[in-house]
Amino acid sequence: MTQADVTEIDPNRPAPFPRAHFLSAADLNPATATELLDLADTYATLNRAGAAPLDLMRGRTVVNLFFENSTRTSASFEIAAKRLGAEVVTMPVAASSVKKGETLIDTAVTLNAMRPDVLVVRHAASGAAALLSQKVGCAVVNAGDGRHEHPTQALLDLLTLRRAFGDVTSLTVAICGDVAHSRVARSNVALLQMMGARVRLVGPPTLIPGDADRWGCEVFHDMREGLAGCDVVMMLRLQLERMEGALIPSTREYFRFWGLDREKLTWAAPGAKVMHPGPMNRGVEIDSDVADDLSVSLIQEQVEMGVAARMAVLASLSARTEAAQ
Ligand code: NCD
Repeated sequence: MTQADVTEIDPNRPAPFPRAHFLSAADLNPATATELLDLADTYATLNRAGAAPLDLMRGRTVVNLFFENSTRTSASFEIAAKRLGAEVVTMPVAASSVKKGETLIDTAVTLNAMRPDVLVVRHAASGAAALLSQKVGCAVVNAGDGRHEHPTQALLDLLTLRRAFGDVTSLTVAICGDVAHSRVARSNVALLQMMGARVRLVGPPTLIPGDADRWGCEVFHDMREGLAGCDVVMMLRLQLERMEGALIPSTREYFRFWGLDREKLTWAAPGAKVMHPGPMNRGVEIDSDVADDLSVSLIQEQVEMGVAARMAVLASLSARTEAAQ
C-alpha cells in the first residue's frame, strides 16, 4: 500500500488485533503488521493535523504499569490512549504497594479486579508480561520485559522506516552496540526479518549475545565492516543496569570504536539513516552531531511515530474485544 492509499483507511474502524495480547513481535505476521502500519499512518496524519480525540475507546480504561523507568514509552501509551478517547491511569509504581512488597502478580490481579480494558506493562523480568496475561481478564501489552522483547518499539521503528524508505524489503539494517541486553534489538530483528529486511548485528563480542548465530543475522565485530553498505544504522544504548561485570573497558574507549559519529556514518551506504530508541547517551554510543542532524537522523520521527503505532495497537485490541462481546 502506498502513502496515497492510506487515506482510505477508516481510523474509526480498525481491524481486530490478531491475538488477545501483544507480547512479542511474533504475535504478528506480514499481513497483520502491514494492517497495523496502515492504520498507524492514518493516526500519524490525524496527529499532525492536530485532530480532536477519537471516540473509539470512549468508556474504556487503559492502565500503565511501569516497574522500570520510562519517558517515551509510558508517555506515548498515555497520549495514544487519550487520543482514542480512553481513560488512562498511569500507576506511579514507586509510590504504590509494590514498594511494600506486593508481588507483580498481586498488583496486576488487584488492578484487574477494577476491570481495566488494557494493561500496559514494563518489568525488569523477561516473561513478566506473558505471565501477567495468564492471570488477568484484559488485554496485556508488553512495553518491555527485561532483555526479552519490546514489540511496540519494533512496530514504531518499522513505521518510521516505511515512511522514510517506502519499501522495507530491500533494506539492510545494522543494529549496533549493546545487543546482548537489548529487548529493542530482539523485537526489531524478529519484525524486520519477518518483513523481508536484512539485519546485521554489530558490536564487540562481549555485547553480542552468545546465541546470535541462531538469530539469522550476519554478525560483525568491526564497525567499518558492519556498516558497509547499510541503509539504516540503529544505535543502542549501553544498558549498564542489566550488565553484570565490566563488559567494556571505558565509555571513552567505547565511543572511539563503537560510537556513531560523522566519520563512521560515511562507512554506511550513501543516504543512510540513523535511528536510536532513546534514551541516548550522547558521546557514548552516539555523537550529538549525528543524532541532531535531521537530514540523517530519524530519532525524533521515531518518537512521533511511537504515538501513532501505539494508537493502532490499542485501537485494534479494542476492536478485538468488542468483536468478542
Ligand atoms: C528502550 C527500552 O526501554 O527498552 N527504550 C525505549 O523504550 N524507548 C531502550 C533503552 O532503554 O535503551
